[in-house]
Amino acid sequence: MLPALRLLPLLLLLPTSLSDSSLHPGDPQLMAPPSPAVVIVGAGISGLAAAEKLHKHGFQNIKILEATGRTGGRIYTQKYAKGLVEIGAQWIHGPSPDNPIFQLASQFGLLSPDALLEENQKAYGNNHPSDMPVVYTSSGGNISAAALADIMGLFITWLEQARNFTNSRCGPEDSVGSFILQQIVNSSQEWDKELVDTNMALLRGLLNMECCVSGTHSMDYVALCPFGEYTMLAGIDCTFPTGFESLVNRIKAPLPSGMVVLNKAVKRIDWNGSFQGNDSHVYPVEVQCEDGDSFVADHVIVTVPLGFLKKQSADFFSPELPTSKMQAIKNLGFGTNNKILVEFEKPFWDPNTTLIQVLWEGDSPLIEPKEDLKQNWIRKLSIFVVLEPPAQLGHVLCGFIAGKEAEFMETLTYEEILSSMTDLFRRITGNPELPPPVSILRSQWYSQPYTGGSYSYVAVGSSGDDLDNLAEPLPTDKEALKPLQVLFGGEATERNFYSTTHGALISGRREAQRLIDRYPQLGVTASKAKL
Ligand SMILES: Cc1cc2nc3c(=O)[nH]c(=O)nc-3n(C[C@H](O)[C@H](O)[C@H](O)COP(=O)(O)OP(=O)(O)OC[C@H]3O[C@@H](n4cnc5c(N)ncnc54)[C@H](O)[C@@H]3O)c2cc1C
Ligand SMILES: *[C@@H]1O[C@H](CO)[C@@H](O)[C@H](O)[C@H]1NC(C)=O
Ligand SMILES: *[C@@H]1O[C@H](CO)[C@@H](O)[C@H](O)[C@H]1NC(C)=O
Ligand SMILES: *[C@@H]1O[C@H](CO)[C@@H](O)[C@H](O)[C@H]1NC(C)=O
Ligand SMILES: *[C@@H]1O[C@H](CO)[C@@H](O)[C@H](O)[C@H]1NC(C)=O
Ligand SMILES: *[C@@H]1O[C@H](CO)[C@@H](O)[C@H](O)[C@H]1NC(C)=O
Ligand SMILES: *[C@@H]1O[C@H](CO)[C@@H](O)[C@H](O)[C@H]1NC(C)=O
Repeated sequence: MLPALRLLPLLLLLPTSLSDSSLHPGDPQLMAPPSPAVVIVGAGISGLAAAEKLHKHGFQNIKILEATGRTGGRIYTQKYAKGLVEIGAQWIHGPSPDNPIFQLASQFGLLSPDALLEENQKAYGNNHPSDMPVVYTSSGGNISAAALADIMGLFITWLEQARNFTNSRCGPEDSVGSFILQQIVNSSQEWDKELVDTNMALLRGLLNMECCVSGTHSMDYVALCPFGEYTMLAGIDCTFPTGFESLVNRIKAPLPSGMVVLNKAVKRIDWNGSFQGNDSHVYPVEVQCEDGDSFVADHVIVTVPLGFLKKQSADFFSPELPTSKMQAIKNLGFGTNNKILVEFEKPFWDPNTTLIQVLWEGDSPLIEPKEDLKQNWIRKLSIFVVLEPPAQLGHVLCGFIAGKEAEFMETLTYEEILSSMTDLFRRITGNPELPPPVSILRSQWYSQPYTGGSYSYVAVGSSGDDLDNLAEPLPTDKEALKPLQVLFGGEATERNFYSTTHGALISGRREAQRLIDRYPQLGVTASKAKL
């Protein structure tokens, strides 16, 4: 505290020295507070939020290196049909004052009046679409709303029970899927015989939908004990009328041009070393890029997706990561949830429909899905959201599909998917003349080399401790000469909010705060500079 205060008068005399990147902590001849060199890997919302916070606190020397040609990462808004659609994140999960995405979005005026209503912020949506779906069967039939409501009620209760296992009795091998299957078997003994097939097919569809929510191939992969550690915030999920990316653009607006470097894929992070900079300073970290460029740094914040780390972590760090971190990367889940957007000239659904469930006759949670993906991938597709508002967007359904079937779907051509969609909608409407969709658009998150899937979950064989472990900075040696060389952000580092945009935002701010705490003088500088 005291040294920082004593430096202040000098600072005011030498304002230009603030932007001098050659000033570094530890230089005894230093006349102004240090401005450490920070490199952030990844310009998703986590990396951008970290940069924005550091910048606001007076850090001058920040570079964000982004592998792709765009910022936003898994927040990705595109023009489609007559308006905008989301290829990645779509909803604010739990839009209420505790959610920093909601805070920013309302502060920037990006939300519709409905989303801002107090009653909307207080209600619980549990991250699921809040309406009852309209069910269409694969042979063109329908299901009564009452039959659906019974099954839906059971399913929601079982999910809630699964979340209640936190800190209570369950084993490390137990999965959410196996727990729900037990409940299904028990409950089915009381069903009317003629309802069994329909109920089972409905439940398979609800499990398919749950795979999309968790971003997993099967709920059998999702660990039961820590399932409830994921925290649901209050608020009925809402969307961004101007696109989720409009929030990203507002977050990055205050950053100086040149801070974000696009098409700059990082190949390796060398740490615990001594790297000579352009100046006389020696840095502990050097970031090597695929194109041969390199950046020295005092601190690197790594915000790449867990899916990327799963493929690359062995070669990405030198020295390699501690064993416990490598284990966490291996054991945590990171699966695929994809979207298939389908535009129709005219809707075949009722104007009040917000959600469509496809009931695949013959499917059941008691029967393993068929292995032949070419023939059967489409049976994993069970849920379509009707996108709003049709007046601006046109008539667009957004299908969700998760797991191996979603990964297989990515390998199909546009024509193959268009033809599968045409067949599907003709079957479920029972109308062989239904015009084909005007267009389709699908996400391919698994094939993206710098993402490798959609989002993380706590898999059987891992725990919330692994998420915490991922967040631990390096070196772990508390006595290290140069602490906080490599820091870790991103959605997969937030124990209670993984898999979400608010988790990613919180993680970026968390790592920025870690550095801010290390350089208390900079905050003083930043507030002085504003005078
Ligand atoms: C289909 C889908 C639907 C979703 N729906 C929702 C939703 O409704 N609500 C919600 O809250 N969340 C949703 N999510 C999750 C949300 O999008 C993510 O949790 C969040 O955007 C992750 O932000 P991040 O900054 O951690 O990672 P990212 O956004 O993935 O950013 C990481 C960045 O690092 C870059 N990178 C990777 N490797 C390198 C490298 N070697 N060198 C340089 N850069 C690199 C990547 O290109 C990327 O830009 C969804 C995600 C998907 C895929
Ligand atoms: C379901 O189908 C029956 C018979 O075809 C029809 O009478 C009924 O209106 C349909 N119900 C709904 C909710 O569409
Ligand atoms: C889950 O636990 C909460 C809090 O103990 C309880 O109120 C609720 O009834 C439980 N839910 C179920 C489905 O068991
Ligand atoms: C089995 O189902 C009945 C009601 O259908 C319920 O009362 C009972 O608690 C269930 N048993 C288990 C082990 O969940
Ligand atoms: C970091 O460097 C020191 C000194 O060279 C060495 O003792 C230590 O083992 C290194 N740490 C790692 C993780 O490689
Ligand atoms: C060294 O300085 C040059 C010119 O200012 C710059 O382009 C380059 O990126 C710097 N290299 C490093 C490793 O900082
Ligand atoms: C749609 O909803 C409105 C308002 O709830 C209702 O009045 C109307 O009857 C519904 N239309 C159909 C076709 O179900």
